[in-house]
Amino acid sequence: MKITIIGTGYVGLVTGACLAELGNDVFCLDVDQRKIDLLNNGGIPIHEPGLEEVVARNRAAGRLQFSTDVAASVAHGDVQFIAVGTPPDEDGSADLQYVLAAARNIGRHMTGFKVVVDKSTVPVGTGDRVKAALQEELAARGAHASFSVVSNPEFLKEGAAVEDFMRPDRIVIGHDSTAEGQKAAAMMKKLYAPFNRNHERTFWMDVRSAEFTKYAANSMLATRISFMNELANLADRVGVDIEAVRHGIGSDPRIGHSFLYAGAGYGGSCFPKDVQALERTARQYDQDLLILRAVEAVNDKQKLVLGQKVIRRFGEDLGGQHFAVWGLAFKPNTDDMREAPSRVLLRQLIDAGATVAVYDPVAMAEARRVLALDLTPDQLARVRFAASPMDALAGAEALVIVTEWKAFRSPDFERIRAALKQAVIFDGRNLFEPEVMAEAAFEYHGIGRSI
Ligand code: NAD
Ligand code: UGA
Repeated sequence: MKITIIGTGYVGLVTGACLAELGNDVFCLDVDQRKIDLLNNGGIPIHEPGLEEVVARNRAAGRLQFSTDVAASVAHGDVQFIAVGTPPDEDGSADLQYVLAAARNIGRHMTGFKVVVDKSTVPVGTGDRVKAALQEELAARGAHASFSVVSNPEFLKEGAAVEDFMRPDRIVIGHDSTAEGQKAAAMMKKLYAPFNRNHERTFWMDVRSAEFTKYAANSMLATRISFMNELANLADRVGVDIEAVRHGIGSDPRIGHSFLYAGAGYGGSCFPKDVQALERTARQYDQDLLILRAVEAVNDKQKLVLGQKVIRRFGEDLGGQHFAVWGLAFKPNTDDMREAPSRVLLRQLIDAGATVAVYDPVAMAEARRVLALDLTPDQLARVRFAASPMDALAGAEALVIVTEWKAFRSPDFERIRAALKQAVIFDGRNLFEPEVMAEAAFEYHGIGRSI
């Protein structure tokens, strides 16, 4: 099938590359000329395991092209995926300007039938607004072309995006019951057929329910994390091991093991903004989503917990003290630092007067970029970007771990001890067992593990 993807970011690039891998003829559009030039020169703008190979293979096969040419992109795809950003507005609601601009571009150039797919995470009712934008553009140039707007939210996780896209646990498709809606559904069914061969994974519903499903999923996952974080903080007070509790409750199939890890708080481009946007939608309908407000408040507090542990141990005034920080990305296997807990921790340590040496396996360049925005030049001068995990440790009072990269899971504890001034580890992701750390004579501070 001929597919256009509008927006070549995390979701758009992965969707485009994976649909090309299935044999489709894919045209990826972006407004960012630098991103398109990089892709056309064989580069990849993001760190995502496996993506580079899929992109290279499909470019070479002539099934995947990148361009900024809007007219050509609209002419290309029978199915037009909108995969642009939906960042939070000032009031927390989703900013739909990019989605609606993409829709207008389609309306401005389309001649024949198009399926317009909202893949971006968008609030309930956005399908109607996309439809109206298309109709307005068609009317403005006196053109007649039929189309159908479909909702097909994306559930991939960064760091596992290609794997998640290629092996989805579900595909949600919302469409309407008009003749165009049925035609669009048939085209979506054909497009996703390779994923449904052994097992039907598609859930068909109306557009509004599909839009809502995406927010419900992210909000549920964020709720689980905040709930566990709140329990972990209590566990620290009452002498309970939250990891034992996680096993104890996760084995109940009604609860399940996933997304029960207490830690330094959730980050990333989606949970924080989607929780806020759903709360905002509720407020527009005079409903106060009390649980989600708490989820957000708990997460804001949780991002401070690791730094508070350091301050409790080393004092309110960290002047003259130096710390090593391992892990800067908001989660492993990505270089994404949007809403990363490490950014809050670094601010806390620096505001308290400390100097830091930081290391991340892939996010160093991104860290330099975002920390230059977060910190003043004087504050930034107190950050050393280390060349390796061991290099970060030199002369530090203690090690603080914020992201659970695999490379941090089995370190050489003797070398760590030799490099640090004091054998103290603050572990924001509960990578190690407190008993093992005690045996190795480390002072160990996990999250919810003060047993
Ligand atoms: P992103 O910021 O990485 O990429 C968005 C891209 O769209 C950018 O490259 C931007 O230049 C481009 N763009 C903006 N306006 C455009 C226009 N009019 N025409 C063409 N290109 C345009 O965003 P993302 O992380 O890929 O997220 C996209 C959407 O998918 C969001 O709604 C997000 O909530 C949702 N989502 C993201 C993830 C994720 O893991 N990142 C997962 C599921 C859903
Ligand atoms: C999340 C969802 O998992 C995806 O299904 C969804 O498509 C995506 O948001 C989106 O809409 O963008 P992502 O943000 O890439 O994916 O990463 P997650 O693995 O969900 O992690 C999010 C944050 O939660 C990370 O900071 C992670 O450290 C934290 N987390 C996760 C925990 O603190 N505890 C856990 O048990 C799991």
